[in-house]
Amino acid sequence: MSGKLDQDIESILLSEQDIKDIVTRLGKELSADYADKDPLVIAVLRGAFVFTADLARAITVPASFDFMAVSSYGSHTKSSGVLRIVKDLDTDIEGRHVIIAEDILDSGLTLSRLITMLEERKPASLRVCAFAVKDVPRESWVVEPAYVGTHVPDAFIVGYGLDYAEHYRNLPYVGVLSPEVYQQ
Ligand code: IMP
Ligand code: MG
Repeated sequence: MSGKLDQDIESILLSEQDIKDIVTRLGKELSADYADKDPLVIAVLRGAFVFTADLARAITVPASFDFMAVSSYGSHTKSSGVLRIVKDLDTDIEGRHVIIAEDILDSGLTLSRLITMLEERKPASLRVCAFAVKDVPRESWVVEPAYVGTHVPDAFIVGYGLDYAEHYRNLPYVGVLSPEVYQQ
């Protein structure tokens, strides 16, 4: 893990300007839908921290923010098994309008387990705002995101919060990782 941050990037999928346009649009949609609702935006760590920081500044109505970290047991390339709360919310969400900010929705399994868990806490509403949705074959949605930033192809992508082995999160754009990186 040395040298230039972008040396392992095969191609750029979303430029900084693309990302800016996406986040601005999502901010407008959320601001319109949640005016007077004082929503609580929950960032799912660690991947969503960059997206949520930008989204926060694109939301122009009163809102608050909290953070949650979860991990699913099993292999790190595919979601599986049980969801473990690594860091819980500090906020009581009962009666609150909650928006979960996610970096990327792949199978949606992680998120569906998280939603089941949060629903038990009786929020007034609970919706998902996903920066990206991966275009993988789906018979049905495990979780249907109410807000979608963009669709991405079924490739392993990094940057803008997305990692491979905890690296590349600080790339300001989204790129496709060269397969040599994870095949070696
Ligand atoms: P799901 O449970 O299959 O939807 O997996 C979602 C999680 O897997 C995301 O929150 C990411 O942390 C991770 N993930 C899925 N696809 C990618 C990718 O292409 N690059 C980096 N992380 C990914
Ligand atoms: Mg994640």
